Amino acid sequence: MTARTAVFVAVALGIAAGACTYLSDEPTPFRPPGVTSDVNAEQRGLELYERDCAWCHGSAGEGTSFGPDLNGPLDGGAYTHFMLATGQMPLEDPEKRAAPASPRYEAADIDAIVRHVETFGGTGPGVPTPSPAAGDIAEGAELYLDNCAACHSSTAVGGALTSGEVVPDLDGVSPVVVAEAMLVGPGCPNTSRTCGPGEGAMPRFELDERSVNSILRYIEYLQRPIDEGGAPIGRVGPVAEGAVALGVGVVALLLLARWIGTRTGDRE
Ligand code: HEC
Ligand code: HEC
Repeated sequence: MTARTAVFVAVALGIAAGACTYLSDEPTPFRPPGVTSDVNAEQRGLELYERDCAWCHGSAGEGTSFGPDLNGPLDGGAYTHFMLATGQMPLEDPEKRAAPASPRYEAADIDAIVRHVETFGGTGPGVPTPSPAAGDIAEGAELYLDNCAACHSSTAVGGALTSGEVVPDLDGVSPVVVAEAMLVGPGCPNTSRTCGPGEGAMPRFELDERSVNSILRYIEYLQRPIDEGGAPIGRVGPVAEGAVALGVGVVALLLLARWIGTRTGDRE
């Protein structure tokens, strides 16, 4: 390569790199020397909130005609983290119902938005730090069956309420999110501006730390059960088992009948 070509290539690469930096929609923010990442997270939380949430919830979380206020008695870390980690927020269309989906932000951004919402003065619980390992699985099973199974089913696959509300499957839901669901009682209809603490489709539970950890431990077990009896068939219970038994049985009977029929046919 001649010196001229080398210079040309270098200049072309320089321009391309410059263009890429210019075009990327998320430029690295300017950081004065000595500024900690906490300040950046604060800035990030504010920016994301202004961009994705403020048009429905108001710049200071005061609420608008599109979304409820975020500074009420139940609002704060736990509720916000729950709504973001379950992908229910940001809602795209105020007419649509919020529903669990895959989260729209990575964990660090969720934390940044949560911290920003916490500055609005809601007096609800903060993001919990449960430790399922400290719970008791037998106690958890009992608490789960008494308090959760009616809606989420005894195997946590979920279902539907008579009101038409969908009860989500708990598979893959993290212990923090389960603890948050118990703290806030989610599922407010988005048409209601007054749906307050504990008025969601799921009730709110005021349980002590040990009970919470035990429920979480049992849910972890349900998420990874040991199926010693054989295939779980979707864990929906006796109906599916009966259907499989019927299917296998009918096929076996048909084969048997055919076999008998063929043998009789042979003798004619
Ligand atoms: C299109 C409008 C819209 C956008 C955008 C939106 N939300 Fe919501 N949000 C709603 C509505 C409507 C509800 C009530 C539905 C519910 O609670 O299930 C709600 C509920 C919530 C709740 C539950 C609190 C309560 O009092 O019901 C939180 C927390 C929340 N949103 C946070 C956020 C955050 C954080 C963002 C931005 C990342 C966001 N939302 C973006 C409309 C919106
Ligand atoms: C009256 C029925 C009912 C009971 C009882 C109930 N839940 Fe729920 N649960 C729901 C409904 C409905 C939702 C969906 C709410 C929404 O739209 O965010 C839900 C959501 C959840 C979620 C969020 C899952 C996700 O992916 O979004 C978790 C976790 C959860 N429940 C755990 C529990 C636990 C643990 C208990 C028992 C301590 C329990 N629930 C008791 C009805 C119930």
